[in-house]
Amino acid sequence: MLKKRWWDKSVIYQVYPKSFYDSNNDGIGDIKGIVDKLDYLKDLGIGIIWLSPVYKSPMDDNGYDIMDYYDIDKQFGSMEDMGNLIKEGNKRNIKIMMDLVINHTSDEHNWFIESRSSKSNPKRDFYIWKDPKPDGSAPNNWKSIFGGFAWEYDDNTKQYYLHVFSKKQPDLNWENEEVRMKLYDMVNYWLDKGLGGFRVDAITYIKKDNTFKNLESTNNEELVNINGGSLNQKGIEDFLSELKKNTFSKYDIVTVAEAPGIPREKLKDYSGANGFFDLLFEFEHSDLDVAEDGKWYTPKKWTLQEFKDALFKSQEVYNDLGFGALFLENHDQPRSLNKFIKESDIGQASAKMLATIYFLLKGIPFIYQGEEIGMTNVKYESIEDYNDISSIDQYNSAINDGLSKEEALEAVHRRSRDNGRSPMQWDDSKNSGFTEVEPWLKVNNNYEEINVKNNLESEDSILNYYKNLIDLRRNSDYSDVIVYGKYIEFMEDDKNIFAYIREYENKKLLVLANFYGENIKVKLNCNVDKVLISNYDLTSISNDEVYLRPYEAVVFGVL
Ligand code: NOJ
Repeated sequence: MLKKRWWDKSVIYQVYPKSFYDSNNDGIGDIKGIVDKLDYLKDLGIGIIWLSPVYKSPMDDNGYDIMDYYDIDKQFGSMEDMGNLIKEGNKRNIKIMMDLVINHTSDEHNWFIESRSSKSNPKRDFYIWKDPKPDGSAPNNWKSIFGGFAWEYDDNTKQYYLHVFSKKQPDLNWENEEVRMKLYDMVNYWLDKGLGGFRVDAITYIKKDNTFKNLESTNNEELVNINGGSLNQKGIEDFLSELKKNTFSKYDIVTVAEAPGIPREKLKDYSGANGFFDLLFEFEHSDLDVAEDGKWYTPKKWTLQEFKDALFKSQEVYNDLGFGALFLENHDQPRSLNKFIKESDIGQASAKMLATIYFLLKGIPFIYQGEEIGMTNVKYESIEDYNDISSIDQYNSAINDGLSKEEALEAVHRRSRDNGRSPMQWDDSKNSGFTEVEPWLKVNNNYEEINVKNNLESEDSILNYYKNLIDLRRNSDYSDVIVYGKYIEFMEDDKNIFAYIREYENKKLLVLANFYGENIKVKLNCNVDKVLISNYDLTSISNDEVYLRPYEAVVFGVL
């Protein structure tokens, strides 16, 4: 029997601070701006805000490169503002979950500045330094996630340091106990301030293959994706359990780890009451459109069946384990409407359908800012308009591989992380009400139509649909079914339908959705009762047949 916790019924809302709301009109979102919008979030019904990093940072990767864990970046505000956000959140029953980035720091962090200063510096071993090969080249053929060698040469001490991500994000050496202890102290410092928990960044990269040998290349390319040498390496479990023991386990919090590539058999080690974390982000379903080679321009088709399998197979594990981390979007992903729905069909019905199918699975739902109003991808005219380092790298490598500028830009349009990072669309005034000056990243052209104000004014808006879904989860007769109920498969192999049943103490509901734009007739083998929520008026049922219109999603109580 699952032990009940304060966050079981919560819905988590992710704020990407740079793009949420600019309270001081410098073109960049800030912490005070989040406080200004807390009532909006309370009204939506969320219980926790996951805040992407606000620590002091040179912003090479928009805050995922931290130069001081104990300070807030001036762009975002001050320590006082952060304390105020926690306090104002508490007043509204909203807890703050901060981002914890401990695989790497910025190269401008004092530890790294000291580490690179000389081979004998006491902090030298805080990072991973290796000699060049005899010919002066990098120690091995590992390729960083953002492209190019994962090694950067430092002329001062004539050694290379390792960076899984950008060269301004050197990897910490987790083999060094002093590093680990300093990190744990920092985690506890923040938890003592009353956070609701942490989202833990890139944590499955902390253990390296300490032989640092070359990875085998399967495509004759010089560099090989670093995952084989740094993702989920043997022995990582020791670090993760030590982290939990020294920090998380001492507090009544919720933790969610970014953990690509954890095999399903291992989910129980990583999540649930006895896992290293409470929840785990899995990416199989959200990266279905990314080809094996990771290049955005490589076309990759996916099917509804693959999408369902990715989600449902984990649901079966969560039946015994606890909760999944349910999401379609975050700051690293394009908008879900563009990814999953044909362009001409993007609209209210399809957005509400997507919301329904992921929200009622077994787990804690996450909403990414703007998803609740149906925000869509941006299509900037030039690569110069993009800020995201991975977009720029993908663009350059497409050009190097012989693509035209237009083709390279097309791939960026589809996959850029800036799709999710364009400013939040609050209203139809200039710059979408995000700021009064030029924003750090261009606003989507469609802001006059797609914005919070319009959504608030229209009763059947996407926003109001999200509110109803959250209300159903938190406050209805079906709350326990939605939160604790078992996932049961339903029409799993159907090529057009996304459906499942949830059951708790003999009470059941059925989620039934038409994933496409054609009318469709579905024969139900169960007796349905009242409609709990739907994106159309009056779902039509005769005998046990349901007629579903384009993108119709309906949730029934089951007798
Ligand atoms: C994952 C974060 O979500 C992403 O935005 C970041 O670039 C990398 N980790 C590196 O910290």
